[in-house]
Amino acid sequence: AAADYVNAHAPEGAVIGVGTGSTANCFIDALAPHRARYRGAVSSSVATTARLEQHGIRVFDLNEIESLPIYVDGADEIDASGAMIKGGGGALTREKIVASVSEVFVCIADASKRVDVLGNFPLPVEVVPMARTAIGRRVMALGGVPVLRVRPDGTPYLTDNGNEILDIKGLQIVAPRELEATINAWPGVVTVGLFAARGADVCLLSSETGVESICYDEPR
Ligand code: A5P
Repeated sequence: AAADYVNAHAPEGAVIGVGTGSTANCFIDALAPHRARYRGAVSSSVATTARLEQHGIRVFDLNEIESLPIYVDGADEIDASGAMIKGGGGALTREKIVASVSEVFVCIADASKRVDVLGNFPLPVEVVPMARTAIGRRVMALGGVPVLRVRPDGTPYLTDNGNEILDIKGLQIVAPRELEATINAWPGVVTVGLFAARGADVCLLSSETGVESICYDEPR
């Protein structure tokens, strides 16, 4: 459905923004047969770059590109306004950058990702390592529980940008825009995985009965 959406809405020769994760991987595989229609893609992670290139899709540096008509990416949770939690795969910073340049954000998700209130999925925050503990204290003052993301060997997980991730448990995020602005303002925070100020414009939500297309009217 996402490949159909892009083929219907993006002009020929466009560069497409591509997200990260298992759902985005399905999109990449579905877009690959149509690659001749596009100039290429801007990628949100090292993993996505590798998959695009395996399919023969040219990957551009965002600095080379003036505009992106569409960005397609998954989400860990999405609410009724199109606000999302993202970053379960650790790519939140590059995802937020590419999304910010894109005219239309198309979220692709299965129905399990649709929630009334964001926060059951731990909220990822990419942090500069020296600020980890100071940011953790601020998280606890908000009522959240910060958990440092680690690799299977117990060492800190590092993002593509060389930073660490705190996953915040225990939040009920009733005002996502406000919380995004609050956490963004803390020194040492690189990116919070709340995508509310720039949320989804469209969600293609899949279930066993098909794909529902949801548009969000809220001005962004
Ligand atoms: C990557 O950092 C994330 O933002 C993903 O977009 C999100 O975690 C969804 O991933 P899945 O499609 O694998 O559930």
